[in-house]
Amino acid sequence: MASILSLLSVLFAIKLCSGEWCYQSQFSCQDTCKGPSDWKQYFPNCGGERQSPINIVTSKVKHDSKLTSFIFEGHENIFNMSVENHGQSAHFTLPQSVRLRGGGLSGIYKAIQFHLHWGEDDGQGSEHSVDGERYPMELHIVHIKEKYDNLKEALNDSTGVAALAFFFEVSSEQNKKLDRVIEALGKVRHKGNSSEIEDFRLTDIVPQADKLSYYRYSGSLTTPGCDQAVVWTVFQKALPISKTQLTSVYKQLLFATEKPMTGIFRPVQNLNGRVVYTSVPSHSLCVLPNLITLFLCLFCVFGQQRCFH
Ligand SMILES: *[C@@H]1O[C@H](CO)[C@@H](O)[C@H](O)[C@H]1NC(C)=O
Ligand SMILES: *[C@@H]1O[C@H](CO)[C@@H](O)[C@H](O)[C@H]1NC(C)=O
Ligand SMILES: *[C@@H]1O[C@H](CO)[C@@H](O)[C@H](O)[C@H]1NC(C)=O
Ligand SMILES: [Zn+2]
Repeated sequence: MASILSLLSVLFAIKLCSGEWCYQSQFSCQDTCKGPSDWKQYFPNCGGERQSPINIVTSKVKHDSKLTSFIFEGHENIFNMSVENHGQSAHFTLPQSVRLRGGGLSGIYKAIQFHLHWGEDDGQGSEHSVDGERYPMELHIVHIKEKYDNLKEALNDSTGVAALAFFFEVSSEQNKKLDRVIEALGKVRHKGNSSEIEDFRLTDIVPQADKLSYYRYSGSLTTPGCDQAVVWTVFQKALPISKTQLTSVYKQLLFATEKPMTGIFRPVQNLNGRVVYTSVPSHSLCVLPNLITLFLCLFCVFGQQRCFH
């Protein structure tokens, strides 16, 4: 009897593990993998109170004067970078010489990898959204606190990971600097394939740190286990990508199931009372085409000037 029970529990465990998590785009009658709404059944953190991504409501963000400019270290360094298809996305490995400071972070973080999230032909592919609008693609650069050796250790700390998010928006011009990244994605079509980009530097794709305005909130990994260990920075300025380039991104990779790797983003999660902060002082919101807001802003600005002068 005991052996039957243990056999049953082994079978049950196999059944649990064989159904991998997946994105909504992968779910079908043939492939009953665990879509985003079921992640929490297998990865309890995914049902937590501080999940990512979120929708950022610009009228509700609060200015935080501690959110100073970032200092990007090592973005000018030239290195050889490997890229691998992990089945649900492709990761570009970054060297530890790429570091992050400032930006209201409590210390120094070192880079581990970057990856992209994209959609399908309808152009909705970012994970975060702003006032309900999704962008076609989102870049995530993942860093961990300097003192940790790997991501696993960092996930045990509520601010162990610092993720930078850049949106992409469709431009009429090609963004030539992205071509090598897109080309590399074409070389890792199948899960497990890897390739290398030689003589790469992050300044090729990421803008200078100074003057970049951003949003800040506490959240999680956007894939299982959804660990709530991430200090999120979402930059306001979107980077350009042409329609043709975006199409090549969508078409090149395959999931482990050999289906096209599209729609690789998690739906937005509840804020559950979290506040999203911004590095932009609130009187810059005067550009809002709203007379009442304008009036109130003028009032604040003059009020402040009277105090300071
Ligand atoms: C990158 O790899 C090439 C070829 O393997 C090598 O010649 C070059 O020195 C490497 N560059 C760096 C920065 O390591
Ligand atoms: C996680 O953090 C706790 C408390 O800080 C520590 O005792 C534990 O060893 C850490 N676990 C790992 C895997 O780093
Ligand atoms: C990519 O992966 C597929 C499937 O595992 C394999 O058949 C193929 O040889 C790999 N290609 C390269 C270039 O490694
Ligand atoms: Zn991501």
